[in-house]
Amino acid sequence: MQPDDHVCLCFRVSLRKLRTYMHRERPRVPSQLSECLGAGTGCHWCVPFLEDLHRQWAAGEEPALPFASEAYAEGRVSYRRSGERPGLERPEPKETD
Ligand code: FES
Repeated sequence: MQPDDHVCLCFRVSLRKLRTYMHRERPRVPSQLSECLGAGTGCHWCVPFLEDLHRQWAAGEEPALPFASEAYAEGRVSYRRSGERPGLERPEPKETD
């Protein structure tokens, strides 16, 4: 996922906006990310991903999601249809020497 891709598709909240919000507001709990343009308060698809981003930020990492934005959006469509969360394919870790 690229910085300008939307993590919360309901409210069009990008990864970049969420990163900026966390750096500026320093939310103590993931649910405070809802104060960033309503992220997570629509269909709830993005909630586990918001929690993951907050966990990364709290650990001092640059928050990121390892999914293609298309696969992420398709996962939401499936979730809204069935109520089930499909597993999203994560890319293979890069080998480093
Ligand atoms: S995608 Fe975030 S609430 Fe629906």
